Amino acid sequence: MTKDFLKTLYTEALHHELKEYLTFDEVYQLIETPKHSDHGDLAFPCFQLAKHKGQSPQQIAEELASLLKDPEFSRVEAIGPYVNVFLNGKALGPSIVEKVLSLNNEFGSHVFGKGKTIAIDMSSPNIAKPFSMGHLRSTVIGNSLALIANKCGYKTVRINYIGDWGTQFGKLIVAYTKWGDESKVRQNPIGELFKLYTKFHVEAENDSSLEVEGRKAFKLLEDGDPEITRLWKWFREESLMAFKKIYQLLGVEFDSYNGEAYYNDKMEEVVEQLKNAQLLEMSDGAEVVRLDDLNLPPCLIKKSDGATLYATRDLASALDRQNRYKFDQALYVVGQEQGVHFKQVFSVLNKLGYQWSDEMKHIPFGLYLKAGKKMSTRKGRVILLEDVLNEAIKIAHDNIKVKNPDLHHASEVAKAVGAGAIIFHDLKNDRQNAIEFSLEDMLTFEGETGPYIQYTHARAQSIIRKASDVQIKDYNGLSDIESWKIIKLLHQFPQVIEKAHHESSPSVLAKYLLQTAKSFNKYYGKTKILVDDEEKMSRLALVKSVTIVLSEGLFLLGISAPKEM
Ligand code: ARG
Repeated sequence: MTKDFLKTLYTEALHHELKEYLTFDEVYQLIETPKHSDHGDLAFPCFQLAKHKGQSPQQIAEELASLLKDPEFSRVEAIGPYVNVFLNGKALGPSIVEKVLSLNNEFGSHVFGKGKTIAIDMSSPNIAKPFSMGHLRSTVIGNSLALIANKCGYKTVRINYIGDWGTQFGKLIVAYTKWGDESKVRQNPIGELFKLYTKFHVEAENDSSLEVEGRKAFKLLEDGDPEITRLWKWFREESLMAFKKIYQLLGVEFDSYNGEAYYNDKMEEVVEQLKNAQLLEMSDGAEVVRLDDLNLPPCLIKKSDGATLYATRDLASALDRQNRYKFDQALYVVGQEQGVHFKQVFSVLNKLGYQWSDEMKHIPFGLYLKAGKKMSTRKGRVILLEDVLNEAIKIAHDNIKVKNPDLHHASEVAKAVGAGAIIFHDLKNDRQNAIEFSLEDMLTFEGETGPYIQYTHARAQSIIRKASDVQIKDYNGLSDIESWKIIKLLHQFPQVIEKAHHESSPSVLAKYLLQTAKSFNKYYGKTKILVDDEEKMSRLALVKSVTIVLSEGLFLLGISAPKEM
């Protein structure tokens, strides 16, 4: 991890006194941030030293506090067994603000990813089915992880592994042939196809021959039957068109759309490799790789009728991606319910001797729940994401009409705000937590929301517009506590990005942005920024650095930050 500059400063001063007892890194690791900011900016606990020195930690803290007299510290205090420091904001602020202003949107960038590639399997919806809330999560989390990785220097490949293969398409084709109506499907493809698919399951409950027919139809598809292939292609194209509308609204793009079907004719190679490595075993007529040694259920490779499976396709696609992109890491942003599947796939690759499988990671996320229960698409109760997005954009548009009727590019701004609300609503939650589905929450623009941060950013921009040009050297230090709080937050931005990357967790960044926006609004509420006095340019320089961090932070979440709203 990159070292924190303020913590380093304190470490240097402490280490100067403690060389005999602790290394620089040990001191650095021990430093904490006090829970209450009125207890200081940083705190050093003396318990470990007490063992070395044979004195009480309280005694040591007293002694140490009296020794630290750097001009960067406005106060050093022993609080029980801790040595707490109050940093001198006026002295330390300038280097931080200057750094933000001079680096501009490069502020917070890292180089540790340079020369490395991360492949990100994300979104990956299933054709002929509505785009689910789960796929929304995968899309926005994956997109943000890619943007954050880029910021850390990595090259990224966003892969949309479309679910366009499997027995369910056999079922759909049977349903369409029996009950489908071409013109209806043309009018409302996903809705109609989904209805047919649902009907299939209802009918199959009383008529088991349907399942058999479905499997047969899929086998025909795998073998390339022209009529069945034609239907499948048509369903696929219609679905992709509908999905692309959603991606356009969300502002997400992909480097590859190679989905499951793409691997249909590339699976023999994996099966061969597994055979040669003597990993394949027969079990109830199916071919499997046993993973008993890892306490995992066997990985199904081929069914008794020769049809391949989800896992087989994931094995083939992993080999292909390693070949094609030479990835250093591969992330699979997929719901946590597929945890075992990914463990199986990675373990099989490991058994085949592929070292790179160690760098493959499942990035799981929690479900969207409705009244505490899993939202099921099987039963046909679904909320269409496209409708939700359009509704959010409409609300944003209505707000603009009331608050800022002369705004230029109003529809563009409405799109940014509507999408921002939906994206942020997802990303602010810890990835692993389940989210209770609430349209109301998704369409709220106040409180802890994306639009709140967007508004804060636009407000800061409008202050800058009212003033003269802000220059890098304009910040000369402010002594009030609110501005120092903001500067301390700005200073954390690079580390927040690094942490979000290491934890594969955009919520770390989302929460940080909320905090920064709140801190700025507090400052703004108390301070007349544009008043003509000798601190005016310092205040403006601070406001400008806030715009830089907020807009770059939003960008890394996949949200745009309009300058006017
Ligand atoms: N299409 C799958 C689903 O909706 C997700 C695919 C995830 N990616 C993968 N490589 N298996 O459940």
